[in-house]
Amino acid sequence: MQVSEQFIKDMPKIELHLHIEGSLEPELMFELAQRNEIALPFPDVEAVRRAYDFSNLQDFLDIYYQGMNVLRTEQDFYDLAWAYFERIAAQNVMHTEIFFDPQGHTERGVAFETVLNGLTSAMQDAEDDLGVTSKLIMCFLRHLSEEDAFKTLDEALPYKDKIIGVGLDSSEKGHPPSKFANVFAKAREEGFLIVAHAGEEGPPEYVVEALDILNVDRIDHGNRLLEDAALTERVVAEGKALTVCPLSNLKLCVVKDIHDHPLKKMLDLGLKATVNSDDPAYFGGYMNENFLAVAKALNLNADHLLTLTRNGIEASFLGDAEKSALFDRVDAFAQKAAA
Ligand code: ADE
Ligand code: ZN
Repeated sequence: MQVSEQFIKDMPKIELHLHIEGSLEPELMFELAQRNEIALPFPDVEAVRRAYDFSNLQDFLDIYYQGMNVLRTEQDFYDLAWAYFERIAAQNVMHTEIFFDPQGHTERGVAFETVLNGLTSAMQDAEDDLGVTSKLIMCFLRHLSEEDAFKTLDEALPYKDKIIGVGLDSSEKGHPPSKFANVFAKAREEGFLIVAHAGEEGPPEYVVEALDILNVDRIDHGNRLLEDAALTERVVAEGKALTVCPLSNLKLCVVKDIHDHPLKKMLDLGLKATVNSDDPAYFGGYMNENFLAVAKALNLNADHLLTLTRNGIEASFLGDAEKSALFDRVDAFAQKAAA
């Protein structure tokens, strides 16, 4: 039986793949541009939204890096993250693990500390005032050099207690995980957990490298691993989670049509898939919209949806006691929904 829209809205959710810079809504972009006296190349928010028409990942990244230029002060980063937390709290997201791209800011002269302080203040307030918990994952931009990534890792070391993990994002094709083997080895030695975008646009071999060379704890996207049956079997056997982003895949033409999305196939194969929003301000939706789109297009039932949310808890970087409390909340929801 297909689930109702209300079931999806009410279901407790976990987000594990969210670029905080990708939650910058055009309205806030204009507000920050005005506050920081920055001229935008768009006359109004409608024109910004009209520009969000992408043929591939690079098309999007060009506009995404341009958008983050309005973020300058600690208050800007606070406001960005707070706006995201308010939205997801209203969507029953219990916990989120947030990516940030420090190199997108430090290369513009914004200090690492400015970014971190703004984000972590909002995270604390979100926990205190909205009851949403969160963790922070620092991503290296893969179109830059490994040397640049090492510099960023060094800058992060004094704040190690505030950053749970290290990830890899930006232009995938031509920038395989192996390019960053040394810096990820150092990050792992320093105690960071590891994730990497792999198999979004890049080939299955990049997923193999993420597993074998970077030693990832989760795979971000992972769509293209399905092209390799032996790799699929391996990822199932290892129980490694995939942070799948349906509306992102649609907007970046990773899938042609939402009805072609492989999420249900992933679940049927026993892959530990989760649903996430990636860059919600650019891709037309936060967690509810992503769940609604796939539930409708792929005819997902309540069990599928509960599995997706439970996979999120299991794959999160929370401790066992915290996970257990979240599982209880999902169980309580499931029981009430079935009654
Ligand atoms: N940075 C922000 N969103 C991204 C995505 N979907 N893939 C790679 N890098 C990104
Ligand atoms: Zn992403």
